[in-house]
Amino acid sequence: MKNFSFHNPTRLHFGRGQIAQLDSEIGKDARVLLVYGGGSIKRNGVHAQVMAALGQRTVVEFAGIEANPEFDTLMRAVALGKENGVDWVLGVGGGSVLDGSKFIAAALALDPAVDPWLIVGNKTPLHAALPIGCVLTLPATGSEANFTGVITRRETQDKLSFKNAAVYPRFSVLDPTVIDSLPARQLGNGLVDAFVHTTEQYLTYPAEARVQDRLAEGILSTLVEVAPLLRQNQGDYDAQANLMWAANQAMFGLVPLGQPLDWASHAIGHELTVLYGLDHAQTLAIALPSLLRYKFDAKRAKLAQYGRRVWQLNGDDDEVANAAIEATRRFFESAGLPTRLSGYGIDDVAAAAAGVEAQLIRHQRLKLGEHGDITPADCRAIVLAAG
Ligand code: NZQ
Ligand code: ZN
Repeated sequence: MKNFSFHNPTRLHFGRGQIAQLDSEIGKDARVLLVYGGGSIKRNGVHAQVMAALGQRTVVEFAGIEANPEFDTLMRAVALGKENGVDWVLGVGGGSVLDGSKFIAAALALDPAVDPWLIVGNKTPLHAALPIGCVLTLPATGSEANFTGVITRRETQDKLSFKNAAVYPRFSVLDPTVIDSLPARQLGNGLVDAFVHTTEQYLTYPAEARVQDRLAEGILSTLVEVAPLLRQNQGDYDAQANLMWAANQAMFGLVPLGQPLDWASHAIGHELTVLYGLDHAQTLAIALPSLLRYKFDAKRAKLAQYGRRVWQLNGDDDEVANAAIEATRRFFESAGLPTRLSGYGIDDVAAAAAGVEAQLIRHQRLKLGEHGDITPADCRAIVLAAG
């Protein structure tokens, strides 16, 4: 196990009715910028619960954060926040809204002489952000308790992340009943995104991180167990709760400690989203099985461990590792996410592969994977094989 330091300052309020905790978290005289998406929170009653909990506090609302949050949209929210002298940012939504809230909170605290686009990609030092609170409505990204934001700028074909301790949410509310209103597509996306976050911090090579491995295997097994329960009955509270906690723990920061990491599927996936507008999780369903096949030899030992412990497979390492990749593919497809480009109507696979390669070069993502040996040319081959 490698050395590590760990600190996660986000307080979590988990369970039914916990949106009411907003009242204990945000000062009575706060001026709150309430940030949300396209309106699902108005339809499912979450907005009403948030407003009830905020009571008499001054609330300025910014609606319309889109999936894969756009820099220009977020800058409009920053302007509204400035105009109204807000001192808290409350994001209510999925990963896009929460990532957007982190950017807005950072931009509101930035020296006005600095171009806020430089926050993205960590191109300017970030010393502070407004305090951030979150009400999660889509278990998937783990953004509710991490220090990452992923921001898109379509005009320049950039979808890039930033990471800074200043944007850890002060608190997050995780009420599993928000899953009641999730469209099947978003439920599937959540299952797959949480799954791939876990595998990217686990399917590398053995590193004697036994607790972290078993935490990863526990998260993966839980996702496999709850997926059919939610398909049968999306209102199954225990299944909802276990999905929400699994997705949170996948990105809370414990799984990667002391471990080699391989974020290549996410790197490929972000470029596929920018190029083709696919949902984030859809790109991962395409990239991961193909990447596991491409790096089979390097990952064989962990793939075999995964196959035995998560999928209860038997046989020698080769057999189990192969069958584990196929089980992963079937799991994604059972969640409603095709694992090949053709499943999303992308037939010019060579163009997609070349596009991803060019984007990765432009974004300087040149040495990916746990050994730093996955180049943009390798990513091209991985995408090509996913046709
Ligand atoms: O906009 P509204 O109307 O709210 O509808 C949303 C949106 O259309 C809908 N939705 C959310 N909760 C709902 C709901 N509909 C009904 N009932 C509810 N309870 O779902 C749609 C998708 O929402 P979005 O926030 O885009 O999805 P997700 O949570 O999958 O977030 C994806 C974004 O997070 C980034 C991705 O790149 C992408 O931009 N990621 C962030 C990470 C992080 N911060 O650590 C890590 C991830 O790997 C990922 O890259
Ligand atoms: Zn993800």
